[in-house]
Amino acid sequence: MASRTLEVEMADGLAAVPAAEKKDLCSITDFSADEIKVVLDLALAMKERPDEFSEALKGKQVVMFFEKPSLRTRLTFEAGLNSLGGTAFFVDQSKEALGAREKLSDIARNLERWVDGVVLRTFSHETVTGMAEHASIPVINGLSDHEHPCQALADFLTLTEKFDDLREVKLAYVGDGNNVANSLLLTAASLGVSMTVACPIGYTPDDHVIATSLQMAAQTGARIEVTHDPEAAVDGAHAVYTDVWASMGQESEAQERKRIFTPFQVNEKLMSAAGPSALFMHCLPAHRGDEVTDAVIDSANSVVFDQAENRLHVQKAIMLKLLGNGSGR
Ligand code: CP
Ligand code: NVA
Repeated sequence: MASRTLEVEMADGLAAVPAAEKKDLCSITDFSADEIKVVLDLALAMKERPDEFSEALKGKQVVMFFEKPSLRTRLTFEAGLNSLGGTAFFVDQSKEALGAREKLSDIARNLERWVDGVVLRTFSHETVTGMAEHASIPVINGLSDHEHPCQALADFLTLTEKFDDLREVKLAYVGDGNNVANSLLLTAASLGVSMTVACPIGYTPDDHVIATSLQMAAQTGARIEVTHDPEAAVDGAHAVYTDVWASMGQESEAQERKRIFTPFQVNEKLMSAAGPSALFMHCLPAHRGDEVTDAVIDSANSVVFDQAENRLHVQKAIMLKLLGNGSGR
């Protein structure tokens, strides 16, 4: 657990928030389990009492380079930093990869002279880690092909709100072993939450992520499993999660993936195998009729908009933890 603390100016005085050991959030593994819990607690406090944090990052500036489209990530970072007294600048990076026009390290050495933090949405995960390596300011992964740590933190915040003890929760992820699945697995293993992933052969999460998750699970008591049987995966699950079958950048594979993933659709039949109280989760955007039916995503058990709301609160907590410690300019 980080022993350093930072002083956060709130309406009623100063509160101590432990500063992150690492300056960046490229992977969810950049935060220890204790740091994840601090972020979730801080996010809950910010959600409950937003006014107390209205000047917590006063004057801080963050630049956001996005190579891919976004609704939630972009707007929750912009609105979130604004509500903490800071300013976010958005750069549409969809025309060419970051680093195509000039070396990534040169971009990093410019940015650190101007702003206090960087949020990246990229294809290559190495763009995120490369920026983090070369810039002295915090770098936050707003989704790469490999991971989506902000999403996973919002999702575990949502589960924290719904269940008394996360270590009693079993999460089932049904679908593509993609960036979202990778970050969920690592977060579950770190927090001691049991998780089963069901995906077609050839579409399992990253091998290194599975190995790391199993290692962490051995310490935390989480039960981590990967299967190709959706019904077995959801059996006894408290929450069933899915994501698109073709992620951004995989559009040319969409037809083939649709054929392969159809048995993995989350529909009423699959949800009934999980039980009547199982929650439905999705990071959004959803491709209704593909990975999830309207009946499931619009059901009373669906918490997809709670997850979307929690992107705001959790990213405010992430920014406060990473940018509030004086490691900026
Ligand atoms: N869930 C998520 O990251 O949404 P956006 O792609 O809209 O940012
Ligand atoms: N796996 C999806 C997540 C979108 C938020 C993608 O990368 O497109």
